[in-house]
Amino acid sequence: MNILLLGSGGREHALACKITQSPLCTKLYTAPGNAGTQMCGENVDMVINDFLSIAAFIKSHQIKMVVVGPEEPLVKGITDYLNENIDTREVLVIGPGRAGSQLEGSKEFAKGFMARHNIPTAAYKSFEAGSFHEGVEFLKTLNAPYVLKADGLAAGKGVYIVNTFDEAVEGLDHMLNKKAFGNASNKVIIEEFMHGIEVSVFVATDGKDWILLPEAKDYKRIGEGDTGPNTGGMGAVSPVPFANELFMEKVKTRIIQPTIEGLNKESIDYKGFIFIGIMSIEGEPFVVEYNARLGDPETEAIIPRIKSDLVEMLQAIATGTLKNYTIETDPNYAVTIVLVSGGYPGKYVNGYEMTGITHIEDSKLYYAGACHSDNKLVTKGGRVIAITSLDPSLSKAREISLKNAQIVSFQNKNYRKDIGLDLQNE
Ligand code: AMP
Ligand code: GLY
Repeated sequence: MNILLLGSGGREHALACKITQSPLCTKLYTAPGNAGTQMCGENVDMVINDFLSIAAFIKSHQIKMVVVGPEEPLVKGITDYLNENIDTREVLVIGPGRAGSQLEGSKEFAKGFMARHNIPTAAYKSFEAGSFHEGVEFLKTLNAPYVLKADGLAAGKGVYIVNTFDEAVEGLDHMLNKKAFGNASNKVIIEEFMHGIEVSVFVATDGKDWILLPEAKDYKRIGEGDTGPNTGGMGAVSPVPFANELFMEKVKTRIIQPTIEGLNKESIDYKGFIFIGIMSIEGEPFVVEYNARLGDPETEAIIPRIKSDLVEMLQAIATGTLKNYTIETDPNYAVTIVLVSGGYPGKYVNGYEMTGITHIEDSKLYYAGACHSDNKLVTKGGRVIAITSLDPSLSKAREISLKNAQIVSFQNKNYRKDIGLDLQNE
């Protein structure tokens, strides 16, 4: 079948590699794609939120499956749009509809959903414009650090974690009164800070049955030792040693199963991935957040660990037959290091030539902000390329990725040298 993949990050390049390995894939198109997806099929110059053009492309190119990488088109309702459009209603869409995407698109919805279905998460209260003073009173009842979240999508920037009461009040004023994130901060969630370690858990579901994909740890801060501002993700490791069998059993019974049952009770048809950010507090799991898609760069660490056919899994998700699908995983450690443009997550310069790629043999390379220009490979984004290495030993996998992070070269390159270091001695 012909498949259309939406997105342009390292996650999409990893998905594209795996999709094209399947005998079920005839041709892969990626919109808009990057230098990596271009090697796996054909890039299409199309905006991922332009549903009209996407529907026309599906029709003209006999697309049978659409895989939605990022959250924005999901939250904007691409799945409902394609399912309701007479020309595209037969196409298999991987990704929830508008209702299910609210798990990511509205933090207030997600927190309410967890409360309704007794899913463990941080205590919270939600505040709307006009209730700034009530918000300040609530902050007085909490201890530092304070966690404030814009309700809607804010490109990963909508969470403030601050250490003093004054900063929290200022943050609330910024979001609620000064509309720092536009409509996304019309409502603000204030929640209890959870002290623990985080793991990203990935679930594939057809709405009734679900399977667990490999879990991963993401490294969000720009600086080594988890310092400096948040980024999209500077690296990932899979599997995560502390997410052992006992812990994952708690995750399944207390979080995943009630989530799927909750979706059913609320008549939300969910066909796609659920990415659950989980905090382990002394071995007990609590939900930090839900996402309606796979993570980036976690996907670059988990996809190489999936041995079974991905398109078969995607087909099972969309057709409600996941019960019959068995996932086979590789027990090796995957360590992913992301090379970024100097300055990221702030301002950075694009267009630097990348070299050294052809010398890499023992890692998988997933392009993110990279494109071809005048027959050269050049940088075009904050996160440029993800380097994933697999090995039975976590430290060896780290070593290979670090070695290759030195070989791939471009001006102002930056990366974290401590990805996985904290997990090495567990
Ligand atoms: P979110 O977008 O909700 O995942 O928040 C971004 C990041 O902020 C998370 O990955 C956590 O590292 C951190 N975070 C969010 N909520 C909390 C919380 N209640 N306690 C501690 N850390 C949090
Ligand atoms: N790595 C975090 C995310 O994809 O949101």
